[in-house]
Amino acid sequence: MHGVDPSVPSVARIYDYFLGGKDNYAADRVAAARILEVIPNAPEMARANRAFLGRVVRHLTAAGIDQFLDLGTGLPTRENVHEVATEARVVYVDNDPVVLVHGRALLADSPRTEVVEGDLHDPERILADAAQYLDFGRPVAVLLMAILHFFPDDAEVAGIVAALRRPLVPGSCLAVSHGNAGELAPDGRRRGRAVYAGTYAGGAVGRSAEHLAGWFGGLELVSPGIVPVQRWHSTEEIPDPAAVGVLGAVGTVPH
Ligand SMILES: C[S@@+](CC[C@H](N)C(=O)[O-])C[C@H]1O[C@@H](n2cnc3c(N)ncnc32)[C@H](O)[C@@H]1O
Repeated sequence: MHGVDPSVPSVARIYDYFLGGKDNYAADRVAAARILEVIPNAPEMARANRAFLGRVVRHLTAAGIDQFLDLGTGLPTRENVHEVATEARVVYVDNDPVVLVHGRALLADSPRTEVVEGDLHDPERILADAAQYLDFGRPVAVLLMAILHFFPDDAEVAGIVAALRRPLVPGSCLAVSHGNAGELAPDGRRRGRAVYAGTYAGGAVGRSAEHLAGWFGGLELVSPGIVPVQRWHSTEEIPDPAAVGVLGAVGTVPH
C-alpha cells in the first residue's frame, strides 16, 4: 500500500475527479488540471471506460461468469462490479489506502464481496490472497481496467498479465482497458507523462491495439476484438477519433 500524503496526487483520486466524484484532494485537482491541458477529453474517457466496465461485467455475467477479480478497483462510483454482477463473488484489489477505506465501508454488509490490499507489481501475492475467496478450479474473470497504462515497463506488464493468466481454467476471461495516445504530439505526451510521474503510480504510457494483442495470445477474443471502448458492444459516439482514447478487449480461455 502506498502512503496517504495528501500533497502527492493519486491516480485513483484523479480518476474520481474526472468522474465528478468528491473523494479527491487539492493536489489531485491540480494534477487533473495539468492533465486536462494536454488531454481535454480525459473526463469523457473516464466515463467511457466506466461504461465499458459495466458492459463487460454484464456480458460476462450473462455468459455465466460468477467470480470476478477486479484489479485496480478505484474509488466506489456508479455501477461497481458487485452492483452489476449481483450474484457473483467479487474480489476488489487496490493499493490506494483511500480506495481501500471507501471500498470496505461500502461493502461492510456485502457477504460475497472482498476488498484486498494488493500491489499489481506483485501478481503472485495477489493471486494467493484472492485464492482465499475465489475458486480457481472454476472460471474467473480477471479485470484489468485502466490500470496497466500506469506500468510503463513493457516487459513487466507482459509478465504481470502472463502471471495472472496462468491459473485460469477454460471458460475464464481476461478483460482489459488501456489508454492509447492517439495522435497526441510528442510535447503533449511528455507533459502528460510528467504529471503521472509525480503521482504515487510513478508513470503512465499509452499503448496500441497491436501491443495489447500480445497479452491476449491463445485466448479467444470476444467480438469485436480490441477496439476503442465506445465501440465494444456499443455505438457510443467518439467525438474526436484522433484524440487520446481508451482501448478495450475481452478474451476467453478456450476449452
Ligand atoms: C484509473 S483507476 C481505474 C479504476 C477502475 N478499474 C475503472 O476502470 O473504473 C486506476 C486504479 O488502479 C489503482 N492502481 C494503480 N497502480 C496500482 C498498483 N500498482 N497496484 C494496485 N492498484 C493500483 C489505483 O489506485 C486506481 O484505483
